Amino acid sequence: MKLFSSVNNVNDINALVKEGLEIKKNPFAFQHLGKNKTIGLVFMNPSLRTRMSTQKAAMNLGMNVMVLNIDKEGWALELRDGVKMDGATVEHIREAAAVMGQYVDILGLRSFPGLKDREEDYGEVIFNKFVELCGVPVVSLESATRHPLQSLADLITIEELKTKPHPKVVLTWAPHVKALPQAVPNSFAEWMCKADVDFTIAHPAGLELSTAFTQGAIITHNQDEALQDADFIYVKNWSAFEPYGKVIPGNEDWMLTNEKLKNTNNAKIMHCLPVRRDLELSSEILDGPNSIVIKEAANREWAAQAVLKKMLEGL
Ligand code: CP
Repeated sequence: MKLFSSVNNVNDINALVKEGLEIKKNPFAFQHLGKNKTIGLVFMNPSLRTRMSTQKAAMNLGMNVMVLNIDKEGWALELRDGVKMDGATVEHIREAAAVMGQYVDILGLRSFPGLKDREEDYGEVIFNKFVELCGVPVVSLESATRHPLQSLADLITIEELKTKPHPKVVLTWAPHVKALPQAVPNSFAEWMCKADVDFTIAHPAGLELSTAFTQGAIITHNQDEALQDADFIYVKNWSAFEPYGKVIPGNEDWMLTNEKLKNTNNAKIMHCLPVRRDLELSSEILDGPNSIVIKEAANREWAAQAVLKKMLEGL
């Protein structure tokens, strides 16, 4: 595997999920693969889970790990071609990405969207420039439009905890005060549409995701109807696709509570984290028996390790 930026880079998602669960049972079995290999984890935005789980996964595989919080510790990057660099930027992405590729065997990159220019964000301009210029395999640590390591961990979690072969999975929008990217819901939808699940997306009117990610999903504006008989509920806020990056006011009653679980199949509640308590998701759910958010976060390690193992095997 030379690139992991979406579900489209995976030949067989069920085999990758199985690989993650096997690695979980025996995390240090493949340390020979990473011996004398180095991964660089480059963050243009903050992270807790992605940074720690990917670093741990790489160490489990015997790799050396370098982390660069380039937003805080690196030179200010110029991302545009054809401009005279007489402003605040100090180093062009062309040199920066190429140099990084000299030091590492695999590059991980986190690059959030600006949420101002949809064409630029959905064109994955920054992420694709790194892929083009660094010259080594690249794993997405969340890009402008997708978060595939999160989605793989989510699918591993569903596979691990499901009690029937074809569970009902519901992605439900949740309130928030800030404009958040669509990367997590896009990616989750894209993976669920390829998984062996019955998949529904519920959100208020005006918060439709791009149809490029939701082919095959049932989509509704009625949250109660969507939650009926749900086995897994994935809670997530996202800002509007149109008008792009906007917060749609109202809809505070979409926050999930124990009361809303009464017609579900004792649904297990998921969230990628970080989560704003009692705004996006109620404390009673997060602290209650239905929440599996910590198990889900723990599975980030095995998702990352399954992907890095595939990349190391291809070096
Ligand atoms: N879920 C997730 O990606 O968490 P971080 O942003 O903390 O890495």
